[in-house]
Amino acid sequence: MNLAEAKQKLEKIGQAHLLDYYDELDEAGKAKLLNQIEATDFSVIRLEKDEAGNDKFEPMDVMKAEEIDKQRAELEKIGIEALKEGKVGLVLLAGGQGTRLGFDGPKGTLNIGKTHELYIFECLINNLMEVVNKCGCYIPLFIMTSEKNNAATVKFFREHNFFGYDENFVAFFIQEMAPSVDYEGKVYMEAKDCISLSPNGNGGWFKSLYNSPCFDTALAKKVEWLNVFAVDNVLQRMGDPAFIGATLKSGFVSGAKVIKKADPDEKVGVMCLRNGRPSIVEYYELTKEMRDEKDANGEYAYNYGVILNYLFRVKELVEIVNKDMPLHVVEKKIPYMDKEGVYHKPEKPNGYKFELLVLDMIEMLDNCMVYEVIRNKEFAPIKNKEGVDSIVSATALLEENGVVL
Ligand code: UTP
Repeated sequence: MNLAEAKQKLEKIGQAHLLDYYDELDEAGKAKLLNQIEATDFSVIRLEKDEAGNDKFEPMDVMKAEEIDKQRAELEKIGIEALKEGKVGLVLLAGGQGTRLGFDGPKGTLNIGKTHELYIFECLINNLMEVVNKCGCYIPLFIMTSEKNNAATVKFFREHNFFGYDENFVAFFIQEMAPSVDYEGKVYMEAKDCISLSPNGNGGWFKSLYNSPCFDTALAKKVEWLNVFAVDNVLQRMGDPAFIGATLKSGFVSGAKVIKKADPDEKVGVMCLRNGRPSIVEYYELTKEMRDEKDANGEYAYNYGVILNYLFRVKELVEIVNKDMPLHVVEKKIPYMDKEGVYHKPEKPNGYKFELLVLDMIEMLDNCMVYEVIRNKEFAPIKNKEGVDSIVSATALLEENGVVL
């Protein structure tokens, strides 16, 4: 793309300011900026809110922990068999920027140990090694990073010898980026030769994996199911044989791990049927009537929140890979360069990012096995610097589960 073409593209969409410093740049800087402008899909910038929908919500069947325990031996057997046959791959979503935590570097590289080093990535690999030991084989692990943190993540894993995991079973792939804007919808600049781009949310994971070289490798060839999970839950159980077994046995095309809400007003998305399809109703969509509704056993009907641990059948994912997904406008702290050319790292949110979310994939599929896990055993997210879902709360839960910090 040449300068005239870039100008034309940007003027049409009210973003011509991205070329304000063009004349000051050297040849390499000019080429970099033009390439970025050419490659960026600015159509994601849409600040107007969607109309409130008239969706019809219904409660959804959940396989409760008690029932799982009764069937555990059988479910584990099915899961272990699938794992041994190489039919299950794992996808670690590690492309986020962890802006709430404000840690410089990939979140997985955070050391949460007290008396010895213990990194978030290490916690996850330690949990995974339990499955490896149970099955007697390694499980393909695909790690999604972004352009911003790929090099640091790969280097970290290499430096730490993959925390004992067989590196031949690990592959990295990079997610797509989207522009970040101020409250008026103007794209921020990060430097004179660089527009502000950030990872496009965790919902683009399959498209990025599908289009990456690692999808064509021997590692991915046999994989029929993908277990996707967040990096920041240090009690996360990946490749859980009983969860895999339950989903396979159900004949459904996806599965979601859920936990019982701490109280009816907890701000989590809960599994439900939306217009007859499996879906997640966000806490702000939950009406008072729905919140108070009880099922036949006298339990709250909308009571199971998702924890970002899903299982998807690859066949169906391939069918929907090019379908449009909803874009979520998320208020975030966005580092930027001001008009004077000074770089800022804001303390408070200063604009929006546009994100695809993995939970929207659930609604694109026909059915979902909803699988209850025990909160204190499997859910210890590190999102914030302090308070709820912080290092303090997560490490307390790790200790409660016998992990030595
Ligand atoms: P979050 O939205 O909670 O994490 O993503 P974040 O974006 O890293 O953090 P904040 O909101 O800025 O503080 C949940 C999971 O999805 C991954 C994250 O790495 C985390 O595992 N994720 C998120 C991606 O892989 N890519 C993204 O673009 C966003």
